[in-house]
Amino acid sequence: MGKAKRVQESEVIMTEMVLPNDTNTLNNLMGGKLMHWLDVVGAIAAQKHSNRIVVTASADSISFQHPIALGNVVTLKAQVTRSFNSSMEVYIEVWAEDIPANKKTKTHRAFFTFVAVDQNGRPIEVPKLEPGTDEEKELFDGALRRRQLRLVLSKRMDPKDAVELKSIFGLEEALGAKKE
Ligand SMILES: CC(C)(COP(=O)(O)OP(=O)(O)OC[C@H]1O[C@@H](n2cnc3c(N)ncnc32)[C@H](O)[C@@H]1OP(=O)(O)O)[C@@H](O)C(=O)NCCC(=O)NCCS
Repeated sequence: MGKAKRVQESEVIMTEMVLPNDTNTLNNLMGGKLMHWLDVVGAIAAQKHSNRIVVTASADSISFQHPIALGNVVTLKAQVTRSFNSSMEVYIEVWAEDIPANKKTKTHRAFFTFVAVDQNGRPIEVPKLEPGTDEEKELFDGALRRRQLRLVLSKRMDPKDAVELKSIFGLEEALGAKKE
């Protein structure tokens, strides 16, 4: 499927400001609003990699440990970590910045999966991704394990076939696989 693409080709940086309409009653950013921004920035990265329409297939668990305050500037950086057949894993990092206080904190990280589809919504093949830096290679390698985990959890993969998970965590019994 065409020429492999580099990670930088899918990189997207999105900047938003937390406005009163985006907040809860404690004047912090609503989790749902952040999820929306994650979905949008991730979808743009997946579109840039595939040059296709993409749909969100899954979002891995996100924990909200750091509240983001009203008036903070939020930066979201997304990149494709690995592509499979029609699906792409996208890694997103989030920073919150209090500009007057000159304080910037990394608040969230998330993995989303997008699937490239044709005009009829059917999955369609996407280009391979070629990692360059050590960090890109680490994300690329880990993507296989994360994919197996989410496919097992969504009952799309038999735990017995999750070879990467078994080899990493020694989860043969937990995953219900027979010992060789
Ligand atoms: C995602 C979708 C296109 C998959 O279609 P499908 O008919 O199940 O297609 P397939 O079984 O061939 O799967 C296609 C790809 O999606 C991946 N996929 C499907 N469900 C997934 C999940 N829960 N998590 C991660 N990947 C998933 C498959 O692994 C496969 O990847 P691959 O082609 O790289 O091997 C389909 O389920 C869909 O359109 N879902 C709704 C998307 C949407 O509206 N999102 C917004 C939510 S409101």
